[in-house]
Amino acid sequence: MGAQARVFVTRPLPGDALSRLEAVHDVEVWPDRLPPPRAELLTRAPQLEGLLSMLTDPVDSELIAAAPSLRAISNYAVGVDNVDVDAATARGIPVGNTPGVLTESTADLALALMLGIARRLAEGEAFVRSGEWDTWEPGLMLGRDLHGATVGIVGYGRIGVAVGRRLEGFGCELLTTSHSSGGVPLDELLERSDFVTLHCPLTPETRGLIGDEALARMKQTAYLVNTARGPVVDTDALARALHAGEIAGAALDVTDPEPLPGDHPLLDAPNLLVVPHVGSATHATRGRMADIAVDNLLAGLAGKPMPHSVNGTA
Ligand code: GLV
Ligand code: GLV
Repeated sequence: MGAQARVFVTRPLPGDALSRLEAVHDVEVWPDRLPPPRAELLTRAPQLEGLLSMLTDPVDSELIAAAPSLRAISNYAVGVDNVDVDAATARGIPVGNTPGVLTESTADLALALMLGIARRLAEGEAFVRSGEWDTWEPGLMLGRDLHGATVGIVGYGRIGVAVGRRLEGFGCELLTTSHSSGGVPLDELLERSDFVTLHCPLTPETRGLIGDEALARMKQTAYLVNTARGPVVDTDALARALHAGEIAGAALDVTDPEPLPGDHPLLDAPNLLVVPHVGSATHATRGRMADIAVDNLLAGLAGKPMPHSVNGTA
């Protein structure tokens, strides 16, 4: 297994996976509920050999350069947009992620958001709790159907496919932009869909993908659902579109920034459902992610290929 390495884990993880890391290496776990401040990471960098990071930790070129002994980065997420993968690759540092295990949980949440926004669950709950509900009414809180709807899936990777599989059970017509799966151009997907659900990674190409122009193409009766990354959507454009009633609503697990400031115009929009980045947040899935993140780090520190690495660097 090689010598003990100095490892920093940027948050306590659910389950007991970290004990396997602690059995082999010199591990320090940031004990707080909130992420370590930037200065804390930079102070630790010079001694660091292994890093187990969260999506809230920018592992950028400055941090990587400040850590000359760093040999392995394991990100506790499928997305690695918080890591400068090119800078790591240039140093021969493998970057691990946790694909696969969170696919089904994230797809479940996408369905929950679609149903939740279209059937106005949050609004209805607040209405009942506030004591405003008088009696059953024929026209009370009418929403829209998911069953039989046309759903556009933007990003047809593991999660997009898992969402599509669920929607087949709802009798939905599916549109994708995937060339290999008989996809349509994005413009056509936006124009035809009753729900547009985002499952692409955040890359320079997808940043701001859903902005003024894309929102204007969507039907006025359509919903936007984002369980991918906040910056795939232009937040200001979405706030405008929701307030103007340009689309029927949006359901977001991710936002830009995250969290949104309490006075952000998006939060005033009546047709918004928003939850705090919980796509993979089930006991079972977060535990499996911890296992993979630890396996990746153990392999990387031992100079072996990580079970799941985004840069294939061993
Ligand atoms: C969560 O957003 C992840 O990328 O795992
Ligand atoms: C993530 O697991 C994806 O590829 O969609």
